[in-house]
Amino acid sequence: MKLDIPENIENIKPYPPGKPLDELEREYGITDSIKLASNENPWGASPKAIKAIGESLGDMQRYPDGSAYYLTEAIAKYAGVGMSEIILGNGSNEVIEFLVKAFVQDDSEVITSHPSFLMYQKFVQVRGGVNRVIPLKDMHHDLQTILDTVNEKTRLIFIDNPNNPTGTYLEPELLIDFINSLPEHVILVLDEAYVDFMDLDKWLDVPSLIKNQAGRCGIVSLRTFSKAYGLSGLRVGFGLMAEEIVTCLHKVRQPFNVNSLAQVGALAALGDVDFYEQTLLKNRQGMKWLMKEIKGLGCEPFASQTNFFLIDVQGNADKLYTEMLYKGVIIRSMSAYGYPHYIRVTVGTTVENKRFLKALSDCLKELNYV
Ligand SMILES: Cc1ncc(COP(=O)(O)O)c(C=O)c1O
Repeated sequence: MKLDIPENIENIKPYPPGKPLDELEREYGITDSIKLASNENPWGASPKAIKAIGESLGDMQRYPDGSAYYLTEAIAKYAGVGMSEIILGNGSNEVIEFLVKAFVQDDSEVITSHPSFLMYQKFVQVRGGVNRVIPLKDMHHDLQTILDTVNEKTRLIFIDNPNNPTGTYLEPELLIDFINSLPEHVILVLDEAYVDFMDLDKWLDVPSLIKNQAGRCGIVSLRTFSKAYGLSGLRVGFGLMAEEIVTCLHKVRQPFNVNSLAQVGALAALGDVDFYEQTLLKNRQGMKWLMKEIKGLGCEPFASQTNFFLIDVQGNADKLYTEMLYKGVIIRSMSAYGYPHYIRVTVGTTVENKRFLKALSDCLKELNYV
């Protein structure tokens, strides 16, 4: 075999897949580990979703509804937009991919921040487009530099609000000014994967921006069922945007991109207000407790509007990550993101948070960090 691999593909670093929990436990000789590394919902999935999925298992011999009619209808009602202003994806990841596929060509430019969610830049690389990467400023998206980077080749700007991995957010007024300064040929993609965890008064009213889009840049909001709704494994997310953009994205999607169980599960989860509210409440309580206790250990945790946060452990984060693994606590080192002394941890259940804190406290002492 003599493959002629295109340069843009050759240059891509694959997304670090992570090992299954069982394998990791075998490798490190541990049992009963806890995973606080992927910002999943530690309280499980909505019980209504689990029930609905169970009841529809008998329909798996059929292809899914390619229009995802009932889920789209429910999202339209929930978000206050028209059904034609919604596109569903196999995770919100897939909607990111649709946007890049539909709007990026060889010399198109896409603006992203660093550090932020890694997938934006990867999809642009696959498409052979040009990534213009702007460093965060004080852990926030640097809106002025992003604006200064926009030119006639700019097709998309990705802003995750709140940002992963910093957990920081942008005030709605700042975003409105930014949106009003962008030229009309650009699409601003607001990745709101963690918006559910944000205080309500900090939300940008994207649906009304979509409704009153005349004279403005394109605006897209990406949302997911993977976090607050606890359905990461099902892979379902959606985008809200003008119908004109949705029409382009439908042209690049596979007909059955959201599977039947995902459609049924997400529909039920959307109606499970109790589970959703409990998740937000317990997340807030857990975050508050953890922040206080971590400060007591002599480390600096950073305020976050999500279900995860950064901690400056004042020492090598990779080493701490490995030591924590031996204690069965899986977190994420931020050294690959340019923060060699920071770890990122997802808020867990009360039991998990206590276990994390004890492991952190022991590791900090063992490594002489504080
Ligand atoms: C900022 C951000 N956007 C998008 C995603 C992808 O979410 P989904 O599971 O819907 O593909 C993630 C996942 O962690 C994320 O952190």
